[in-house]
Amino acid sequence: MNIAILSRAEQLYSTQSLLKAGEVQNHDIEIIDPTYCNLMIVNNKAVVQYHDQIIDDLDAIIPRIGASNTYRGASIVRHFESMDVFSIASSQGIVNSRDKWTCFQILAQNQIAMPKTTLGSYPYLDAFVKDFEDKPIIIKILEGTHGQGVILCENHKNALATAQTLQAAKVRFVIQEFIAEAQGTDIRAFVINGQVVAAIQRQSKDGDFRSNLHQGGSANSIQLSNTEKQLAVATAKALNLQVCGVDMLSSKRGPLVLEVNSTPGLEGIQTATGIDVAGKIIAFIEQQKK
Ligand SMILES: Nc1ncnc2c1ncn2[C@@H]1O[C@H](COP(=O)(O)OP(=O)(O)O)[C@@H](O)[C@H]1O
Ligand SMILES: [Mg+2]
Repeated sequence: MNIAILSRAEQLYSTQSLLKAGEVQNHDIEIIDPTYCNLMIVNNKAVVQYHDQIIDDLDAIIPRIGASNTYRGASIVRHFESMDVFSIASSQGIVNSRDKWTCFQILAQNQIAMPKTTLGSYPYLDAFVKDFEDKPIIIKILEGTHGQGVILCENHKNALATAQTLQAAKVRFVIQEFIAEAQGTDIRAFVINGQVVAAIQRQSKDGDFRSNLHQGGSANSIQLSNTEKQLAVATAKALNLQVCGVDMLSSKRGPLVLEVNSTPGLEGIQTATGIDVAGKIIAFIEQQKK
């Protein structure tokens, strides 16, 4: 099969891992840098030009779209979709999971357990903040990644000042119930085609509330409960993502979904579990194209 990985970072672990997994199965697999894709519509037909060549021979794409490139990346995926090229992540799923509020709205519509969350918006900030208990409260920007847009505010006063600051800077955000009992850990379930194929628990470093590996967190392989598995699978389905990473927090009232990643990293999960997730992604593509 002709498979393309859409990635701007050829040397990244995940990209290389997928490349090798495709080669092992004797696929013609290449990396396409979205920066050099021209999208055209000619006589109502979608055409993709890469450098100076028209791409019309792909069977499948593996989008690895960075957070700074969502609009353009999703647009390229949509173009390939209209050319009947199979994508392991739908353009709609990429867009909907990137914006945290949109993602939470979809989770709620699908009855998926999640922390109490409010879209921060003027002029009711004060009331919105006070709708949460006067305890630590989470505030996060809508398109943050790697733990870089999440703040833990001590109480109402801090939360209000933080919310006002983001408002003044014209940054959109949500206010969210802090799940203290998660104790700086979260669960990443890797879902492929309605099944959890690997799972890790991430633990923060130095008492940070954020468990992101990019913030120095560490990862351990774990066995998920049936409830956690079902929640992860239902979440992937709700977001229309056949391949994704579903992040959950363990709370007193059971697992809660925190976010969905349409371009989940492979390094942490493959290293901690020893599972060839990249190989499973390639196998999934083969199965779809049969
Ligand atoms: N409501 C919350 N309660 C407890 N911990 C949280 C909450 N929201 C985020 N965290 C912690 O912060 C980390 C980063 O938050 P997340 O929403 O996943 O943003 P990012 O997209 O930057 O990873 C999570 O992995 C989790 O450890
Ligand atoms: Mg996260």
